[in-house]
Amino acid sequence: MPIEERVAADMKGIVFTEFLELIEQRFGLEIADRVLESTPLASGGVYTAVGSYPHQELVAMVCSLAEITGEAPADLLRTFGQHLFGRFAALYPAFFHGVDDGLEFLCRVEDHIHVEVRKLYPDAELPSFEYQHEDDRTTILYRSRRHFGDLAEGLIRACLEHFSTPCHVERTDLDDEGAEVRFELTPADRS
Ligand code: HEM
Repeated sequence: MPIEERVAADMKGIVFTEFLELIEQRFGLEIADRVLESTPLASGGVYTAVGSYPHQELVAMVCSLAEITGEAPADLLRTFGQHLFGRFAALYPAFFHGVDDGLEFLCRVEDHIHVEVRKLYPDAELPSFEYQHEDDRTTILYRSRRHFGDLAEGLIRACLEHFSTPCHVERTDLDDEGAEVRFELTPADRS
């Protein structure tokens, strides 16, 4: 089956399609094709979970793009997070209404935004976030069996930029695999 058909038929998740979109935009169609061609499809292109993206294949594509471009997978995932946040803003404007602060938005992801996402896409593969507030510091604990700590970092930084909320972001990896990551956010001077 041609690659385009496999993509259209089986890889419907926004995370997956937006990653392809980013490769095309940033590196061109030829590299996007090479990445797809060099990515082994574990299940032979047949998936039962309609609507969800095959996570391991996204990881394989990130690694393949890293090999082709010489950029580190972690950097590519962070860049992808930046791109993805822009797409969320374009595709889901309702989540942005009435929110004018990046920290406030980030604190709405677990109990509001992803809850709504799950209603729209019951088989969505979503991480969990825990929040703690102490003085002016907000701590966000990311956990996911998909190990996308780098993607979360890109999304968090893009969110703060989007709302022009100046913040220092300090990241601490709580395991070796990006499955559990603590982000400590403290307000920074605008100057
Ligand atoms: C309007 C805003 C947002 C929307 C609509 C949204 C929606 C989604 C959707 C649809 C997925 C993919 C689910 C799947 O493919 O099965 C996803 C995954 C994810 N989201 Fe959100 N999201 C939003 C904001 C955020 C923000 C601000 C963060 C960071 C704090 C975040 C962190 C993540 C991560 C890291 C994943 C990847 C899956 C994982 O790590 O397990 N999202 N989100």
